[in-house]
Amino acid sequence: MSRAKRKWDHIQNALSTGQKSLTGFQDVTFIHQSLPDTSLDHISLASEIGELLLSSPIFINAMTGGGGEKTYQINRDLAIAARQTGVAIAVGSQMSALKDQNEAESYRVVRKENPDGILFANLGSEATLDQAKAAVDMIEANALQIHLNVVQELVMPEGDRDFTGALKRIEHIVHNLEVPVIVKEVGFGISKETIWKLKEAGVAIVDVGGFGGTNFSRIENERRQRHIPFFDSWGIPTAVSIAETSAHKGNITILASGGIQTSTEAAKSIALGANAAGMAGALLKVLIKGDLENLIDEIGLLHQELKMIMTALGAKTLKQLQQAPLLLSGDVHHWLQQRGVN
Ligand code: FNR
Repeated sequence: MSRAKRKWDHIQNALSTGQKSLTGFQDVTFIHQSLPDTSLDHISLASEIGELLLSSPIFINAMTGGGGEKTYQINRDLAIAARQTGVAIAVGSQMSALKDQNEAESYRVVRKENPDGILFANLGSEATLDQAKAAVDMIEANALQIHLNVVQELVMPEGDRDFTGALKRIEHIVHNLEVPVIVKEVGFGISKETIWKLKEAGVAIVDVGGFGGTNFSRIENERRQRHIPFFDSWGIPTAVSIAETSAHKGNITILASGGIQTSTEAAKSIALGANAAGMAGALLKVLIKGDLENLIDEIGLLHQELKMIMTALGAKTLKQLQQAPLLLSGDVHHWLQQRGVN
């Protein structure tokens, strides 16, 4: 099966395996404030990811590696939507484009359509420093995402089986690349044990990529003869992963992602400690089931709604939203209690 075909199957499977949300956000409740002393017009959505200044905390997370005409079209549309709405955007894994220059065009189009935007390059943790530099150069990226996807590889019949040395390679890249590095999960969540290791390695930005949204165990299982059931329900719910990593972050910037579909979930992510909220599957669905205009409208609506939520909470800035009082209940409360996060 060609790489482009496999990646297109991923997109189709990502849309069809969408699961009932298990992110934990339903266990996170804002406490209403009747005297917020705010005005909708004075709410700022300005955010920071490390040294990068953003006008919105929403970003389009990595999708559609693998090249081909469909990747080109999707990346072009996502880049235009990012430009029109002022959100940052990550491309999907560029490894195949590093190996086959013909595929590079489907990534370069993102910079071409969005010359002044904030772009994240993307590679897996098998990448070398030279590959990291080449991926950043390919799209003149402002940062590099390095994804950790052990479970996906294990469920993929042709996937990797050897995960040794990843942290050493990440450390080497972090210390030698000219742009910031974002280490991200792809839907199974980052634990406090993992964040301690990443901190030791000098990583300054982590995207929790939590459980409850796009599920790469289920996606890869769709392509297997014999189903591997145990990873389908494996992972740290996104809300838990944000709270747990935020409690142990030190100087690390936490980004939220994994099943974020609504403005409320993005707002809860920030209140739990994240600086920004990435969306992949939910935005891809809007684009593929609708069109580019629908996607631009959707992101515009997310911004409007975020401002409404912040107005009601009395949070004029995202820093103030991070301090908003919350009630944690159910599974999220249990998880965090047992993991020593109060
Ligand atoms: C992804 N994701 C992803 N991540 C990554 O780091 N490199 C990649 O190449 C891809 N490719 C990819 C393709 C498709 C079709 C989807 C839907 C997703 C993972 C993505 O960035 C994100 O971490 C997860 O999808 C969880 O977020 P959502 O989809 O629940 O918002």
